[in-house]
Amino acid sequence: MGRGKKRILTGDRPTGRLHLGHYVGSLQNRVKLQDDYETFILIADAQALTDHFEHPEILLKNIREVTRDYLSVGISPEKCTIFVQSMIPEIAELAVFYLNLVTVARLQRNPTVKDEMKQKGFEGNLPTGFLVYPVHQAADITAFKADLVPVGKDQLPMIEQTNEIVRRFNSLYKKVLIEPEGLVGDVSRLPGTDGQGKMSKSIGNAIYLSDDEKTVQKKVMSMYTDPTRLRASDPGHVEGNPVFTYHDAFNPDKDEVADLKERYRQGKVGDVEVKKKLIVALNLFLGPIRERRVEYMGDDQRIDEILIAGTQEARSVARETMDQVRSAMQIDYPFFKKKSVKEALKSPNRLNQSFF
Ligand code: TRP
Repeated sequence: MGRGKKRILTGDRPTGRLHLGHYVGSLQNRVKLQDDYETFILIADAQALTDHFEHPEILLKNIREVTRDYLSVGISPEKCTIFVQSMIPEIAELAVFYLNLVTVARLQRNPTVKDEMKQKGFEGNLPTGFLVYPVHQAADITAFKADLVPVGKDQLPMIEQTNEIVRRFNSLYKKVLIEPEGLVGDVSRLPGTDGQGKMSKSIGNAIYLSDDEKTVQKKVMSMYTDPTRLRASDPGHVEGNPVFTYHDAFNPDKDEVADLKERYRQGKVGDVEVKKKLIVALNLFLGPIRERRVEYMGDDQRIDEILIAGTQEARSVARETMDQVRSAMQIDYPFFKKKSVKEALKSPNRLNQSFF
């Protein structure tokens, strides 16, 4: 309805620096698509609290750090709206209404929630906020009427859950919400340096976008390879070997990668050579990212300005959706619409308007 470009909404929890897994899973798609889509990138601080509520003090630093990561990979603040989730009260407000449209059983079946519950030791004492975070995520996405959501593969169940909420809302009240589509990167799941599971900061098996050359070297040299191969002259396995998965993802010299694989299978190349070539490839890839990062190093003010401008812009979009949602639900009570009443309910501490 009169909207030019299609919209993207995506985001990350600000619980630490972003790593190569984030890059291939979704950052790369965001950079690619920022010219063609109106892009909103949410820093999910409220969602981060669902498993870090005991440590809210980590958020301020990490909100800025994640923003630096975005800028360093080439996400442009001129093209994208980068904003802070908890400063958009409409998201929380939408979630309150969506909670009525989802059963507890459905949330308990969400495979990502199930995995994370195990991983975080929440079985048996599950915080309600954690169980319902997919509903909040549906609010993140629908507040911006996103068409497309570039995310890592583990987030697809969230999109499915969002679409169920959208369908339920639209059929129950009025068709105002949009069903989004998920978009997963080429390498949908990058293994960690330990080869065990996905790259994850909580497991400590990640290579960060902000790691320097020495750190990358150290991490690659201690990477897990093929445990069945004892000597360089033994034939080795390429499949399921994270060193080769990284080569595939980051080494632009495809001939070199093909040659290394061939020789590895025949037992004609040692792990050290394969790793050394990977270090070169990774540092080549990370070079421009590091350079861009230097521009924003230490400059909190510039970062803060980007976040303020983005949050203001995002807020106005979310408010528009909120108005339509209230109207669809017939809770846009006329007696609250008077200008004088609106003025009286304004909160001085938030951007423009109070929560309820
Ligand atoms: N759950 C996502 C993650 O852990 C972060 C996130 C929050 C998100 N809200 C979102 C991603 C909306 C996409 C769309 O990575």
